Amino acid sequence: MIYVVLGTQWGDEGKAKVIDYFAKDFDYVARFQGGANAGHTVYVNSKKFVFHLIPSGILNKNVNVIIGNGVVIDLEEFLKELQMVSSEVDTKGRIFISNKAHIVMPYHKLMDKAKEMNSGSAIGTTQRGIGPAYVDKVDRLGIRVGDILTSDKNILKEKIAAAYEIKNYILKNFYKIPDLPTVDEITDNLFSLADKIKDFVTDTERVLQSAHQLRKNILFEGAQGSLLDVDFGTYPFVTSSNTISGGAICGSGIGAIDTASIVGITKAYITRVGNGPFPTEQDNETGELIRQKGNEFGATTGRKRKCGWFDLVATRYSIGVNGVTEIFLTKLDVLDGLKKIQVCTGYEITDGNKTYKTDYLPSSIEMYPKIKPIYKEFDGWEEKTFGVKNYLKLPDQARKYIEYLEVQLEKKISYISTGFEREDVIVR
Ligand code: GDP
Ligand code: IMO
Ligand code: MG
Repeated sequence: MIYVVLGTQWGDEGKAKVIDYFAKDFDYVARFQGGANAGHTVYVNSKKFVFHLIPSGILNKNVNVIIGNGVVIDLEEFLKELQMVSSEVDTKGRIFISNKAHIVMPYHKLMDKAKEMNSGSAIGTTQRGIGPAYVDKVDRLGIRVGDILTSDKNILKEKIAAAYEIKNYILKNFYKIPDLPTVDEITDNLFSLADKIKDFVTDTERVLQSAHQLRKNILFEGAQGSLLDVDFGTYPFVTSSNTISGGAICGSGIGAIDTASIVGITKAYITRVGNGPFPTEQDNETGELIRQKGNEFGATTGRKRKCGWFDLVATRYSIGVNGVTEIFLTKLDVLDGLKKIQVCTGYEITDGNKTYKTDYLPSSIEMYPKIKPIYKEFDGWEEKTFGVKNYLKLPDQARKYIEYLEVQLEKKISYISTGFEREDVIVR
């Protein structure tokens, strides 16, 4: 069985909670894109774990985890996380890192930060160096995990020098950053990390291919969300990787997948962190209420997440580009106690002197300020759904809301999450 579990919104849909919930039935959990920009939170027995690189399935002791070739890896961050998780579970022999994954270098983080600080229209990145690391990968100047396992430090140094030369020039002369690290310092540091990670490094695509052949259960852990996909998201306010289901194939090397369940994780409302359009944003008391109740603060940067109403236009689009087969609705409990709940059913766009309705996401960023969402209003519910595990025990209004979404999305909402703990799930 193969599951691809991914976010259908702008990230932070509760993917890690869901992956941890599913993990007991899987042999492998693999990350295939993104890097330490992700912040994946899991609560087990009231203890909180935040993962940025290590797949969230690691807390289940029978699961092996893979950091695939499509990930850009910050090795120091990986080692920090390894220490955190190893104090909780035995990780020996359970973590595999692709030798083809690209390393996020110190100059990538500097470039990310400098560009954000000096740009008139900053993306609001996590400043983890993700974009610049992918730029170097595509520009064929990347340093891959396998590169640092060389016995010849000079070869590594030459590769780093080639990648760093122009960035050093830009950082020094354009961004005026003093005290830049030297090629020697970067090389020495990376070379010293090699010893600490070498036991994890392998051809992870082979591990996955044989697991697949042996009919093992494999779960792909998406990071970010579909609306942050570099091709299909709200470009240019996106991340730098393919976050959609297709990314799982080229970011892991498993080969073509015959059948897979593509589980779309969808919050019962929407959040966005960083800049960029968000048609149903509620920059008001309701948005603030949802933020406080849902604890909507970034797991990586601590930034406030903007909050807004469920958007059928955006979610249908995500279902399409991912081939979502079923939906896992999360954070229903956060809506408890709201008097009214709105759902965006379409967009009214006024462009020049023309006004029209659409139910498809515009491809051009310039159209977003012209959108006026069309809403359908629902009565809220007073009762608590927090921790409810039986669908029939949900308040009538909550069921009405869920069933409306299901009909409109034309996808089964197979699971509903009603709390942050592993067991807080309704299976329908
Ligand atoms: P991810 O990036 O998609 O893994 O999500 P994050 O970890 O960044 O943010 C989701 C937050 O919501 C985390 O703090 C989770 O513990 C929490 N969470 C997940 N599902 C639920 C739920 O159903 N109800 C509540 N109240 N919290 C949830
Ligand atoms: P998880 O996996 C929410 C956002 C950033 C910024 C944009 C580009 O926890 O859902 P980047 O650092 O990737 O170049 O930033 O993408 N972003 C996320 N937003 N959840 C995430 O990950 C995100 N990872 C990146 O805020 O708007
Ligand atoms: Mg997150």
